[in-house]
Amino acid sequence: MMIHQKMPQSVALAAGLMVLCLVAFLADQLSADPTHEGAWQSQDDFQVPAGLKPLRIPADNPMSVEKVELGKQLFFDPRLSRDDTVSCATCHDPNKGWSNGEAFATGVREQVGGRNSPTIINSAYQYFHFWDGRATGLEEQALGPIENPIEMDLTLKEAVSKINAIEGYRSQFNAVFGSEATSDTLAKAIAAFERTILSGDAPYDRFTAGDKSALSEAAQRGHEIFFNRARCSSCHVPPNFSDLGFHNIGIGIDAEKLDIGRQEHSKLLGDRGSFKTPTLREIQRTAPYMHDGSLATLADVVDFYVKGGNPNPQLDEEVFPLSLTDKEKADLVTFLEEAFASPNYPHVDPPVLPDWPSDSDGQSDGRNGEVMNTIRVEQR
Ligand code: HEC
Ligand code: HEC
Repeated sequence: MMIHQKMPQSVALAAGLMVLCLVAFLADQLSADPTHEGAWQSQDDFQVPAGLKPLRIPADNPMSVEKVELGKQLFFDPRLSRDDTVSCATCHDPNKGWSNGEAFATGVREQVGGRNSPTIINSAYQYFHFWDGRATGLEEQALGPIENPIEMDLTLKEAVSKINAIEGYRSQFNAVFGSEATSDTLAKAIAAFERTILSGDAPYDRFTAGDKSALSEAAQRGHEIFFNRARCSSCHVPPNFSDLGFHNIGIGIDAEKLDIGRQEHSKLLGDRGSFKTPTLREIQRTAPYMHDGSLATLADVVDFYVKGGNPNPQLDEEVFPLSLTDKEKADLVTFLEEAFASPNYPHVDPPVLPDWPSDSDGQSDGRNGEVMNTIRVEQR
């Protein structure tokens, strides 16, 4: 064509490069926010970060952009609690590693629960949820905290009718599920959103894929200790650094009132004091550690394992005293801090929430402002 012959090669090349750069830039922007609308349009487009395994998505709850968007609003909405003060994000705060930075979780009326808020990052990969594994899917899990009298304290019936009284939610539930909210679809929307909170493509993944410069020398020495001498990887199995199982490492064993953990549900004595192996992804963000929040820092965690955990009749055989020098302990800590900190941390800004119904008494516009204040979380 004439026009092509007239265009100097260098101009064509420069234009081509610019298009490539733009595409790369956009792709980068989109992958930075997994819930971004343009990131994926259909189930098939939904990609997990590099290094992670493909995600099992329940056949009866396929992913869609609109469903995830709805689930995000519900996750950040304190109106799912009795006194409109506590949302899922209160205890699973994106600015605190999707945990809450405290030993225990504080729910409605300032009530404090008995266990540490785990991160929800990569919880889509777990078969069992909660420290004791009592829920078997994110859909089942999502309703637990709403009904828990210490956490959000609503019956499911109350939660569903509160949601359906809000026109902005009713219309979204109709668009996504073809009817107004039920406890089933409420759980499905929240679970779909949680499946987008993924962390991968971290220095560990890049190092494993062959980029030896992805980890500092200290972290590489820690890597060696983690996988070999200390055998951390027998329970914290890559790529999600959990074996999906339960183990007694002796945490909380001396507590005045013993939390028996998994035993409560399996009824097996061997499970006494056993808890689910948590992921180590983004572990540098989620202090304090363990089901009771009893260890303040990663150095404390390493010291705990070095002494062989807390001996007790059910202590797992993979936990034994380690002979590590101070330098080796520091290297292991450096590995934990560096390896799992993804440059694409799943940060999500609190969404704009649908307005209160304007006709309900006492819940006028002023109230809307209040809600927005309660859910505002600090920026990174
Ligand atoms: C008051 C604080 C609090 C609130 C509010 C809360 N959670 Fe949690 N969450 C926790 C605690 C504590 C645990 C662990 C409880 C246990 O193991 O018994 C937990 C566990 C979880 C887990 C399990 C993670 C895993 O892999 O085991 C998920 C997922 C989760 N919460 C999602 C939610 C959702 C969704 C909501 C809102 C509907 C919510 N949470 C509201 C404190 C809270
Ligand atoms: C026998 C299995 C097992 C081995 C071996 C093991 N862990 Fe764990 N790890 C667990 C379990 C189970 C928990 C949760 C225990 C609890 O809260 O009671 C845990 C918790 C942790 C936590 C806290 C996570 C959080 O979110 O609170 C870190 C960090 C950790 N382990 C690192 C390590 C390191 C480092 C090693 C090797 C020195 C190691 N683990 C070896 C099973 C194991």
